Amino acid sequence: MAGNEVVILRIGHRPERDQRVTTHVGLTARALGARGMYLATADKGVVKSIRDVADRWGGDFFCQDNVKWRSCIRDWKVQGGIVVHLTMYGLNLPEVIGEVKAHGKVLVIVGAEKVPGEIYGLADYNVAVTGQPHSEISSLALFLDHYFSGQEFNNEFPNAQIRIIPSRAGKQTEEL
Ligand SMILES: C[S@@+](CC[C@H](N)C(=O)[O-])C[C@H]1O[C@@H](n2cnc3c(N)ncnc32)[C@H](O)[C@@H]1O
Repeated sequence: MAGNEVVILRIGHRPERDQRVTTHVGLTARALGARGMYLATADKGVVKSIRDVADRWGGDFFCQDNVKWRSCIRDWKVQGGIVVHLTMYGLNLPEVIGEVKAHGKVLVIVGAEKVPGEIYGLADYNVAVTGQPHSEISSLALFLDHYFSGQEFNNEFPNAQIRIIPSRAGKQTEEL
């Protein structure tokens, strides 16, 4: 897992209705081992929410808004990365995760509204997390857990201001 780089590309975000879900896409990505999130819409509110969490809870997750998705995908491939598009129309996750895991640099595209048809052709893998409609948050979480083989539970988040002391009951935290 060390050395693997997974970054999310969130497309189709509508600031007037997707802020909460897109923020949760970013927080899920961060918690489960991704390196950062590109957002293909301008939305400083989402960027700030994610940065505030990262500042307090540690790690070096980045969030960059207003990226152009075509050049983002092109640049990623030029740098040797592969592109995975999460879509219920793709091949089922267990069928392809072995091949995907052979690559250490993965851009994961998740949509909000209907994604442009071009994305299906640009992706190296169109991956379904079951062939049933659900959510970008659940599909991303399951993808990351399979990709990292559960090792993301051992991740550390350096320079945190706070950490949780896991407890069987109640809530315990430690300010650092
Ligand atoms: C709520 S869905 C919206 C889909 C949109 N209505 C469409 O027709 O394309 C938003 C995103 O969730 C992800 N998603 C939803 N169900 C999925 C599944 N079964 N497998 C993989 N990704 C899924 C996809 O990335 C999709 O773009």
